[in-house]
Amino acid sequence: MSQKISLTRYLVEQQRQDGHIPPELRLLLEIVARACKSISQAVNKGALGGVLGTAGSENVQGEVQKKLDIIANEVLIEANEWGGHLAAMASEEMDSIYLVPNRYPQGEYLLLFDPLDGSSNIDVNVSIGTIFSVLKKPEGSAAVEEKDFLQAGNKQVAAGYCVYGPQTTLVLTVGDGVAMFTLDREQGSFVLTEENVQIPADTKEFAINMSNMRHWDEPVKRYIDECLQGKEGPRGKDFNMRWIASMVADVHRILTRGGVFMYPWDKREPQKAGKLRLMYEANPMSWLIEQAGGAATNGRQRILDLQPGKLHERVSVVLGSKNEVERITAYHLEPK
Ligand code: AHG
Ligand code: MN
Ligand code: MN
Ligand code: MN
Repeated sequence: MSQKISLTRYLVEQQRQDGHIPPELRLLLEIVARACKSISQAVNKGALGGVLGTAGSENVQGEVQKKLDIIANEVLIEANEWGGHLAAMASEEMDSIYLVPNRYPQGEYLLLFDPLDGSSNIDVNVSIGTIFSVLKKPEGSAAVEEKDFLQAGNKQVAAGYCVYGPQTTLVLTVGDGVAMFTLDREQGSFVLTEENVQIPADTKEFAINMSNMRHWDEPVKRYIDECLQGKEGPRGKDFNMRWIASMVADVHRILTRGGVFMYPWDKREPQKAGKLRLMYEANPMSWLIEQAGGAATNGRQRILDLQPGKLHERVSVVLGSKNEVERITAYHLEPK
């Protein structure tokens, strides 16, 4: 029987390979994985755990918070604040950054997360997840401020998500490809089940919320219209559509079998670049997709090169199979 490789062993071996990840980063990732395991246990209880439904509060995004949004946020804060590997955290569910309390040692990393992604699926028992991104605190001893988080996605030192579906699967990159770990509930540990994940460059599957079609910009309408024409149309092949409305589940499908995911700008809120958040949704997912051979743009530019201006800023997202992303991006760049 092939030996089971645990997350810890994978990270220790990454650490040994040309010092790919320092011990502090390994510790951070193991703690985040343990927090995701706790969140998975809460998710799996559902109604039995009193975790469904709304909390009656609103977050900085103007969204009604679900109980699990808050529970997952608290689990991640409590798991990470005492370890000495972090200086501060930022979350979709918190207006401003969270500084590690002075009673704990300060570390050199910044952790950003979407504690519960896909909240609209919580009460209908559809896959949801947690997304996380790790940056290094800028040099200098001054206390961390929000501006220290405003680093482009190409500065990430680790990124990943945990999808709470039929399996609980942690997907991670530290810049050396993408690995997937499935939670072995009997052992209580994440076991390596895929590594060097590769996304096919072509696909016949797109993911977009079609109900927003009338609000899209022309290049997106053109791309989707061509897909819908099937093999009689300019693409010469039939397409399939998937939309789970949990980014983690849609991205997991794309990492597993290819596809293209789009949450484009639309004219409902023209001042917002899109619905998804750059720092803790688009950046970590874009790095994972690129590390698996895919591409990720905002329709015009590589997402990982975007310089953030605000912690909770939004971005238009096109990611997945490289050739499709390049086609969609080319449509956006064509002179009007
Ligand atoms: P969150 O639940 O963290 O706020 O994120 C939800 C996001 C993302 O997961 C998903 O792709 C998208 O919202 C779905 O949006 P629609 O419900 O508008 O389709
Ligand atoms: Mn939300
Ligand atoms: Mn989200
Ligand atoms: Mn969320």
